[in-house]
Amino acid sequence: MKAIVCTQLGGPELLELQERASPPLRPRELRVAVKSAGVNFPDSLQIAGKYQMKLDPPFTPGAEVAGVITEIGSAVTRYQIGDAIAAFVPSGGYAEECVVSAEAALPLPANLDPADAGGFPLVYGTTLHALKQRGQLKAGETLLVLGAAGGVGLAAVQLGKLMGARVIAAASSPEKLALCQQHGADALIDYRQESLKDAIKTLTKGLGADVIYDPVGGALGEECLSCVAWNGRYLVIGFAAGPIPNLAANRLLLKGAAAVGVFWGAFAMREPALNLANFQQLFGWIESGQLKPYISARYPLAQAGQALRDMMDRKVTGKIVLIP
Ligand SMILES: NC(=O)c1ccc[n+]([C@@H]2O[C@H](COP(=O)([O-])OP(=O)(O)OC[C@H]3O[C@@H](n4cnc5c(N)ncnc54)[C@H](OP(=O)(O)O)[C@@H]3O)[C@@H](O)[C@H]2O)c1
Repeated sequence: MKAIVCTQLGGPELLELQERASPPLRPRELRVAVKSAGVNFPDSLQIAGKYQMKLDPPFTPGAEVAGVITEIGSAVTRYQIGDAIAAFVPSGGYAEECVVSAEAALPLPANLDPADAGGFPLVYGTTLHALKQRGQLKAGETLLVLGAAGGVGLAAVQLGKLMGARVIAAASSPEKLALCQQHGADALIDYRQESLKDAIKTLTKGLGADVIYDPVGGALGEECLSCVAWNGRYLVIGFAAGPIPNLAANRLLLKGAAAVGVFWGAFAMREPALNLANFQQLFGWIESGQLKPYISARYPLAQAGQALRDMMDRKVTGKIVLIP
């Protein structure tokens, strides 16, 4: 099978397309013919050796796939050859074939094509966990989303609306904000043109946002604590801008607010039943036509490096996937 291989830690230009042996299948695993593989920001960190979970080269990056089952481990009873599933995997997604734990597999609803689902688990799994379990978002509350046209950001715009919130999308260009509006955002802030703090003050009549979803961090993350409402929740999702924000504890005190960490991968491992219930809710929204995952670009497997480079250069919106 063909797979993308990180042979040395560094930039995406160093990735190679290689012919590799099919990985062995253990009793509780499924072999999947990959129809699409999600490209995620953490992949760019992992190939550079900068992610929390470090892998030694050579390895195949890629944390999520969707496809069709081609082989079933001897201890698995639930699935049949040909079933369409998606899964979050520790690595190995950028390949024609991937071995996934049967426990991690998510059977896809009939109206979600595996060629479109490879970018689904991570961004929607993270975002529903963030808004529901960590942010306790309630209908009628105001949700501010930073990096709102990005992978997790656009998912937050969509899920925030489905949960009944008023969604304020913040991003770096009018084109990105127009995409957020198409996906339901109620108000827009271009943080390259205006101060986040002033814009939120105007849009919320001085009250601030009840929940802030921040995958960007850096100086914008630090500004968020001036935008949070009384009893608000600032959700620490990630640091796409690079620097980890230094949070001013006095602002949390003055607002009776909380800064709340979100780590979906660990949640999925530690609380699998709750994670599964979240996916049942997500797939229910898809089946009823209320939620449609957005994919802005599909790249051939051989162009994995270019896909990651485009993501790192802030050129992509929503999700991008690799098609083996
Ligand atoms: N906590 C968790 O469980 C979890 C799960 C998934 C992802 N994450 C994290 O969430 C973050 C976003 O992931 P994603 O997949 O949504 O990435 P993405 O699609 O690339 O979106 C990130 C957004 O951040 C903004 N950004 C600001 N400065 C940037 C910079 N220097 N480089 C790149 N983007 C920049 C961009 O929006 P603008 O151009 O509009 O500013 C971009 O759309 C990452 O840090 C990732 O590790 C965390």
